[in-house]
Amino acid sequence: YVSEYPYFGTIVGRYANRIKGGRFVLDGVEYVLARNNGPNHLHGGIKGFDKAVWAAEPTTHDGAPALRLRHVSPDGDEGYPGTLTTTVTYVLTDDNALEVHYEAETDRPTIVNLTQHAYFNLAGSRSETILDHEMQIFASRYTPVDETLIPTGELRAVKDTPMDFTTPHRIGARIDQVEGGYDHNYVLDSGGGALAPAARVHDAASGRIMEVHTTEPGLQFYTGNFLDGTIKGKGGRVYPKHAGFCLEAQVFPDSPNNPSFPSPVLRPGEKYTQTTVYRFLTE
Ligand code: BGC
Repeated sequence: YVSEYPYFGTIVGRYANRIKGGRFVLDGVEYVLARNNGPNHLHGGIKGFDKAVWAAEPTTHDGAPALRLRHVSPDGDEGYPGTLTTTVTYVLTDDNALEVHYEAETDRPTIVNLTQHAYFNLAGSRSETILDHEMQIFASRYTPVDETLIPTGELRAVKDTPMDFTTPHRIGARIDQVEGGYDHNYVLDSGGGALAPAARVHDAASGRIMEVHTTEPGLQFYTGNFLDGTIKGKGGRVYPKHAGFCLEAQVFPDSPNNPSFPSPVLRPGEKYTQTTVYRFLTE
């Protein structure tokens, strides 16, 4: 599972998505990270949090069944400063939601951006791809990227472009107009902070709906563009391109090198928190 599957169902850290050139400066000190994605650093490096074996214990959260995961990443792990102690709690609620609560603390100034990289296909085995799902993302802007998928720094309006999901659109309707497929960070209209709607996905054939709420300012919409049918899943099922989509709540990619983006800096004495809720219903 660790060696073959590209982040299926994993917690991603210490920094979800890309950091340009695998370098950032914090308090005047330059830190060098692995370049594990072309010229850039991706998803925490060579042995990111997706490959860590977390300590797990069953628990409850507001009376609901939960699983608490804990991981201590040592100072210098994958090049990042500070010992980072992370707790992630998965909660199953009575209203069919999966809540993911993240907390992290450090003993030296550092950067943190944790997310969940689950792939979803609401049609289950009824459809090979997610191209017929209707997607709505509560964001009027996104962060355009260069050819190595690093944000240019601009926050661009989605209006009148194939990036516009402010009203529901079939994922496949305009995907051919987006080079490589969707793999972009949306700037959520909520601005982050309080738990707020981020996305709503509807698979009309099955009637299944997923609603995503998050405290994060950004949401990576990724349509499994790099899946190529070589990986087999449940029941030997093959996963071709666009077999699943990810909605990864996050601070924006490459924020450490973009002072105008929401800050990913965490200092000793502060607590990083993020909550994302995936709620399932039918219509
Ligand atoms: C990124 C993609 C990357 C994928 C790896 C996504 O979060 O946005 O660019 O290829 O993760 O599974």
